Amino acid sequence: AKEQQLQLIKESIATIPNYPKEGVLFRDITTLLNDPAAYQATIDMLVEHYQNKGVTKIVGTEARGFLFGAPVALRLGVGFVPVRKKGKLPREVLSMTYDLEYGTDTLEIHKDSITAQDNVLVVDDLLATGGTVEATVKMIKQLGAKVVDAAFVIGLPDLGGVERLAKEGVTSYSLVEFP
Ligand code: PRP
Ligand code: ADE
Repeated sequence: AKEQQLQLIKESIATIPNYPKEGVLFRDITTLLNDPAAYQATIDMLVEHYQNKGVTKIVGTEARGFLFGAPVALRLGVGFVPVRKKGKLPREVLSMTYDLEYGTDTLEIHKDSITAQDNVLVVDDLLATGGTVEATVKMIKQLGAKVVDAAFVIGLPDLGGVERLAKEGVTSYSLVEFP
């Protein structure tokens, strides 16, 4: 049943060559979101993996991380904290600049959104180079909290994200992988 759910999830993801630039194989989760059985299976599998693991807070990264992090937080009964692109959060923030598979950006988190007592699960749709979640993990650590794990719907193992997060002492989990 688990293998069937994973197959359903994987088959619901669209692949677009050369978007947003030449040479990138874009893995598009909008088709997964538009398939209620696939979306439900994705959230169910993440919840099943992380329930009873002592998670006290979910941090999700803009924008696609919100679509998976928030439903998982509701189901686990813990708070959801958005990490946003620069200039979007109204109160006092921590900032971190990072590299993407295509470009660079700055992420921010509200300083009072997590405490040193929190055990944080980071959720995003996709792990590529790991730059996004590395920056996110650094901010969570600066706030004194512990990162339990980083969870993704999609892992792209050839792009080095798993190793990059391991250097930060963070283990990761991806539901499906594309070579
Ligand atoms: C994408 C994706 C991940 C990140 C993965 O987000 O949703 O957050 O890139 O790449 P990395 O592992 O190399 O950091 P993007 O910055 O394109 O923003 P979006 O979610 O707002 O579309
Ligand atoms: N973010 C970074 N790399 C990506 C890819 N190949 N597909 C979708 N989103 C991405």
